[in-house]
Amino acid sequence: MMSCISIAVVNRAGILARWRRISPLGVWDDIVAAVLFMRILHKHDDGARKVRVYQSTLDGARFYYEGSALYTQVDGNGKNRLKYITMMGELLAERHDVLMLGTAGGALATKISRRGGQVTAVDCWDGAFDVARRWFQLPDEVECVHADALDFLRTTARQWDGVAIDVFRGGEIPSAMFAGDIGLLLAKVLRPGGVAVWNVADHPLSWPSERVVAALKRAGFKTALTPVLDTDGDNTLIVGHQQPSRL
Ligand SMILES: C[S@@+](CC[C@H](N)C(=O)[O-])C[C@H]1O[C@@H](n2cnc3c(N)ncnc32)[C@H](O)[C@@H]1O
Repeated sequence: MMSCISIAVVNRAGILARWRRISPLGVWDDIVAAVLFMRILHKHDDGARKVRVYQSTLDGARFYYEGSALYTQVDGNGKNRLKYITMMGELLAERHDVLMLGTAGGALATKISRRGGQVTAVDCWDGAFDVARRWFQLPDEVECVHADALDFLRTTARQWDGVAIDVFRGGEIPSAMFAGDIGLLLAKVLRPGGVAVWNVADHPLSWPSERVVAALKRAGFKTALTPVLDTDGDNTLIVGHQQPSRL
């Protein structure tokens, strides 16, 4: 009995995700959340997008879900609790100016901003910025841009020291992100010596990982893969270092 309870407490994000896959959203959501020691803080459902923000009644941790996909998890102080985000932060640790594509609750943007970095955070859903500021402690200093990631890359004339790519619809990277010129667009927005860190919610030999590696290599990046194993699912971070020009 005791072990059942502790499993539910420890992995309640996973249980919620499984439940959300089979349950129509509504009153059941609130009941299941309460059973799992969670409280719903925010609900958004416009037909195309279902976002929920939960708070643990045990330790104040907060969770941002789109459908059944967990996008952001922070503790009661707004500190990131997802392993792949921690790793992305480490891979971008030396970079002062960072472009963040895909914001959700903004855990990575908050992490970089709190260490003194400057962040430009892009998301195609403008509600994400309100949610991130209200429930996830996204600092005022983070510049928020409501735009499609690809359109933004095509139109901006600015450059950054690093770019983090964490763009998902549900659990999938939108196919538009694999446009033939994506590598060149990322190279264009990076200052010389800049780094791109791209999150894939899959293993290193998966098809999306291979596509990201190929796109970065085509644009002249030197690539390295970092697998991240976590209880909520496996990720692969693909890091692209710009090579010095041979001219
Ligand atoms: C996994 S979440 C990002 C989590 C975030 N990096 C963090 O630190 O908490 C993915 C985000 O990508 C956004 N997104 C999906 N398609 C997009 C697009 N075409 N352009 C910009 N953002 C997009 C979603 O709205 C969602 O907020």
